[in-house]
Amino acid sequence: MKKTSAVLFLTALFAAVLSGAGSRAAADDPTFNNQVVRIFQRNCQTCHHPGDVAPFSLMTYRDARPWARSIQEKVVLKQMPPWKPVAGCSEFQGERILADDEISTISRWVDAGSPEGDPADLPPPLTFTDGWPLGPPDAVLQPEGDYTVRPGNDIYRCFSIPTDGRGDRYISAVEIKPGDRNVVHHVIIFLDPTGVSKALDDADAEPGYTSFGGPGFDAAGIIGGWAPGSRSRFENDGTAWKIPSGARVVIQVHYHPRDIIETDRTQIGLYYARQPVRKEIGVLPLINENFTIPAGDPHYRVTAGFPAIPPGYNAHALAVAPHMHLLGREISVSAAAPNGTSTCLVNINDWSFQWQGFYYFKEPVPLTAGTRLSAVAYYDNTSNNPRNPNSPPKAVRWGEQTTDEMCVAFITYTLDAENLDVSSPAINGVSADGGQLTVTGRGFLKGADIEIDGHRLTDCRNVKKSNKRITSGDAWQALAPAGKQVSVTVLNTDGVRSTAMSFTR
Ligand code: HEC
Repeated sequence: MKKTSAVLFLTALFAAVLSGAGSRAAADDPTFNNQVVRIFQRNCQTCHHPGDVAPFSLMTYRDARPWARSIQEKVVLKQMPPWKPVAGCSEFQGERILADDEISTISRWVDAGSPEGDPADLPPPLTFTDGWPLGPPDAVLQPEGDYTVRPGNDIYRCFSIPTDGRGDRYISAVEIKPGDRNVVHHVIIFLDPTGVSKALDDADAEPGYTSFGGPGFDAAGIIGGWAPGSRSRFENDGTAWKIPSGARVVIQVHYHPRDIIETDRTQIGLYYARQPVRKEIGVLPLINENFTIPAGDPHYRVTAGFPAIPPGYNAHALAVAPHMHLLGREISVSAAAPNGTSTCLVNINDWSFQWQGFYYFKEPVPLTAGTRLSAVAYYDNTSNNPRNPNSPPKAVRWGEQTTDEMCVAFITYTLDAENLDVSSPAINGVSADGGQLTVTGRGFLKGADIEIDGHRLTDCRNVKKSNKRITSGDAWQALAPAGKQVSVTVLNTDGVRSTAMSFTR
């Protein structure tokens, strides 16, 4: 916030308190139980609940009341909810922006002395699943042990983890859960179809292996990332990330150690596609690794680009994620079509390292052949930049350390011409013999899972690599008690579900 506006604002608040306006509640004042908690449910509680990123909870009146003044200030100054892209460029999904009347309701509530109101007005509380904002994942992958983060320079540590390997898997969301947010600076998820990452991991006595920059092998792709402030979401129906059969997932964690020893075990949650997948998602990187920001320059310009989209590769951009470190102040990304029109993809004019991630366009943006993508960034390398890691300032170059700089934007995309064949699984029999449940039919992909009343069984096996029989060991038994009629479906790994067959044990 600008200093003068903050002072004016605080003076106004103080005057309001002195005049007594801060404590007189009138009948038509908003109350917590009536209007305010509903605004918090819609706009704040995803982060402000126990165990998530925000430092305190806004779930209940007791939680919120002590923060009332601070809440008023943060919402009036539009610092909360946090949202970095400036208006007038792209429109994004899930924009975290309060409407003017929501701001004034919160403000009037605080001015009225933050009344609680009638318990009968309370809406049902929202519930959040244990640390996985998207709900329980289909699979959780994690390193075998905790990694000890010792004081010193930044560390890039890669953890190589097998996937279930039963077939190609399409993923509609990847959620990354840092173990210790104090030291995890960012996370990138690579795919390793070669197994080289396992050899590297095995050769190192501690969990994972250290590798600056890249992951130390020829990565087949990136399927996700996390940086402070980022939140995962499900991809649009029909699009998904692909994990090829047998590939390993490599979680690369960039640690920025503190001056005490800490431990971390970062987990990832995979959400399998549940709608037929037509297009695979890819990532276009815009990167400039060749710059030096002179000491003392308040507005140093760096650009990054991507070669023109080749003929035959018309695409649509789904989301954009700019990335800089501590000197970065502004970054904008745009697409210049061959006919000369330029589309603004994202524009951030008050960069904060704390708030980054993928911004998903409300409508995918066409990138026709010949389109050039570019990013323009500005850096403040003076002592007026409170985040400047060097005092006095010194020249800073591209580099992997947090105190180095980066000029990067990732754009996720799908290809217009791609139209993957979807499978057509069909069940013709369900039987229980011994402890096992066996489903027979046709069109089952390797890695397909049986579902009972919509619940996926996680212990399924394709029998003898055939695409005609799948079995579940015993996970099915709890869902299908003797005598109860249940509905059995097969969910293929490309998100296509068979029609249901009823079954009674
Ligand atoms: C995307 C996650 C997220 C959302 C949504 C969010 N917050 Fe926050 N909030 C944070 C984090 C993280 C912090 C601490 C770091 C910071 O201040 O940036 C914070 C800090 C605050 C603070 C400052 C506490 C202090 O130390 O003074 C207030 C007040 C606040 N939030 C209120 C709100 C309100 C009210 C809403 C909804 C209108 C909201 N926040 C929505 C993540 C969020």
